[in-house]
Amino acid sequence: MAHTLLSTLVFLVLIRVSSAELARDRAALQDFIAKTPHEGRLRWNSTVPTCQWTGVTCDANGSSVIALRLPGVGLIGVIPAGTLARLSSLRVLSLRANRLSGALPADFSSLVSLRHLYLQENLLSGEFPAVIPKLVGLTRLDLSGNGFSGQIPFAVNNLTRLTGLFLERNRFSGTLPNIAIQILNAFNVSYNHLNGSIPETLADFPASSFTGNIQLCGGPLQPCERPFFQSPSPAPTATGTRSFSSRKLSTAAIIVIATASAAVVSALLLMMIWCAMRRREEKGKPPKAPESVAARGVDPMGTASSSSKEMGSGVGEADRNRLVFVGEGGGYSFDLEDLLRASAEVLGKGSVGTSYKAVLEEGTTVVVKRLKDVAASRREFEGHVEALGRVAVHANVLPLRAYYYSKDEKLVVYDHLPAGCLAGVIHGTRGSGRTPLDWDGRLQVALAAGRGLSHLHNSAKIPHGNIKANNILLRDNPSSAVLSDFGLTPLFSSATPPPTRAAGYRAPEVIETRRATFKSDVYSYGVLLLELLTGRAPNQTTIGSEEGIDLPRWVQSVVREEWTAEVFDAELMRYPGVEEEMVQLLQIAMACVATMPESRPEIGEVVRMIEEIVSRSESTPPSDDQRLPEESA
Ligand SMILES: *[C@@H]1O[C@H](CO)[C@@H](O)[C@H](O)[C@H]1NC(C)=O
Ligand SMILES: *[C@@H]1O[C@H](CO)[C@@H](O)[C@H](O)[C@H]1NC(C)=O
Ligand SMILES: *[C@@H]1O[C@H](CO)[C@@H](O)[C@H](O)[C@H]1NC(C)=O
Ligand SMILES: *[C@@H]1O[C@H](CO)[C@@H](O)[C@H](O)[C@H]1NC(C)=O
Ligand SMILES: *[C@@H]1O[C@H](CO)[C@@H](O)[C@H](O)[C@H]1NC(C)=O
Repeated sequence: MAHTLLSTLVFLVLIRVSSAELARDRAALQDFIAKTPHEGRLRWNSTVPTCQWTGVTCDANGSSVIALRLPGVGLIGVIPAGTLARLSSLRVLSLRANRLSGALPADFSSLVSLRHLYLQENLLSGEFPAVIPKLVGLTRLDLSGNGFSGQIPFAVNNLTRLTGLFLERNRFSGTLPNIAIQILNAFNVSYNHLNGSIPETLADFPASSFTGNIQLCGGPLQPCERPFFQSPSPAPTATGTRSFSSRKLSTAAIIVIATASAAVVSALLLMMIWCAMRRREEKGKPPKAPESVAARGVDPMGTASSSSKEMGSGVGEADRNRLVFVGEGGGYSFDLEDLLRASAEVLGKGSVGTSYKAVLEEGTTVVVKRLKDVAASRREFEGHVEALGRVAVHANVLPLRAYYYSKDEKLVVYDHLPAGCLAGVIHGTRGSGRTPLDWDGRLQVALAAGRGLSHLHNSAKIPHGNIKANNILLRDNPSSAVLSDFGLTPLFSSATPPPTRAAGYRAPEVIETRRATFKSDVYSYGVLLLELLTGRAPNQTTIGSEEGIDLPRWVQSVVREEWTAEVFDAELMRYPGVEEEMVQLLQIAMACVATMPESRPEIGEVVRMIEEIVSRSESTPPSDDQRLPEESA
């Protein structure tokens, strides 16, 4: 009896709540129609229940309005604020084919349940409505056939559930942002005033999605004059001749390096430092023409000019052209002349320059990186590199030891770790008999890299800027892997097209801003985790290949189809009982590669989550990762 009474009461309360809700919605609709001139085809009779009004749909129990469809009913003018925004359960709003004008009311942000928004074929104008990226539940957005102008904002990436985006026949201008919404399957920006190149993320849509934008290029349209990614050709820049000659010469240098490294020859580094030394010795002597020519002959930067050499040989210049040790210096005691006599071997050509392994005469081995396209002035360079040298020692960060700056050469020196880099271990050893890193090893490397990154972000306060498998160096114990090459990106010209190699790791917004941030580091780190999990390189895009795989998108698509083991590296399938950990790490990785930077977690949080996975797998006790790196001597 009591039970029945209680349920009756609950029922009555629910009825009252629901009718109160509906009354609110009804009032909102009445306000809307009272404030919006229309052509009289629309009659909402107050004696008729709200849920039966033309265009109004309520939920099953008639408690709130969930859809409002008023296409072609002759609505005129600005959508009044404080009306439709009160329909708090609204899921579908269609006001298409009317004569609505002006901007959307900002209070639309309260339509948190909105899934479908159809405003096409009106006279709406102004910038892309700032409120739309806040409607994160939207799956379908149609603003086509209006008068919207200005840029399409990068913030549309906030709409991660969007499957259709229709912006055609407006007056949008500027470049298309890098829209990377995984499930977007219909997209149209045709007949706007867009220019620049179509981002890779949108290049799969057909040409008719982009036509009618005279200055748009790339993707399904005609190639851009300056292909952004697959450009081995020189990019025309403001300083055309200089950059052209340096590029031409560096191509020559690549050939030289390729030929030379086959025979493991040390000559190149030798000659280069020899030139630096000769210049040093020029102090006080009048500059000799043959030496300048010789210097230029091996100067792959092509920046040496005889006039600057004459100017540069002023008092003090030679003193400044010396190897400078920074931070703790690693206990090294060698100078430029020692480097000159070292034997050198090309380790690799990376995005910031070429790396050499230099074995000094007394047996010390270091890595010398020769930076290319440095845009920083001497003062900026020295200030920045000195600051990098001050980064506190951490077991998972490879410290910078020394630098050398001259007009023609910029070198940085690091410890040499013989075990090589992560990329070599994951991708280089398949089928060659050696086992690629096992699951536990990969987890430990992920954690080590995360800890190193967390150190850079939280104690040194600098973004790494170039996280990739080539910059994770291994030691005997996977948990003492280190991050190398941190913080160098500010030295390079932001106008330099980012190298293809790093492309797969770059956060989408970095393509817009060209600036590394903590959040873009987290994205790159997420790609690295995906690489560890899938065994696939994020940069499998070979030059000119159409099938370039963006690893996050690939994983997303496989996972969406079904939660299949196909995502994971076949090598990992040999280890029983680790699927759950792999799925957990996959979830962390996917959070890191969120398109909107603010949706990505902080690296500290990521490290904590991985530590939890590691501590749950009892197989390996946590290693002593505060140990300092041994010198490789
Ligand atoms: C409203 O509906 C009632 C009953 O259906 C009808 O009598 C009345 O004429 C209608 N009013 C208008 C303005 O259409
Ligand atoms: C109304 O129906 C929906 C399902 O359509 C249900 O989730 C909701 O709880 C119901 N509300 C009331 C007040 O009965
Ligand atoms: C993205 O969505 C969040 C809500 O999830 C919102 O707070 C934020 O303002 C949106 N960002 C932009 C740029 O609109
Ligand atoms: C694109 O158009 C905008 C003006 O709408 C202009 O400022 C910009 O320089 C153009 N960019 C290119 C690459 O043509
Ligand atoms: C994009 O819109 C234009 C103009 O309305 C249309 O001609 C074209 O077929 C549309 N393309 C796609 C892929 O929907």
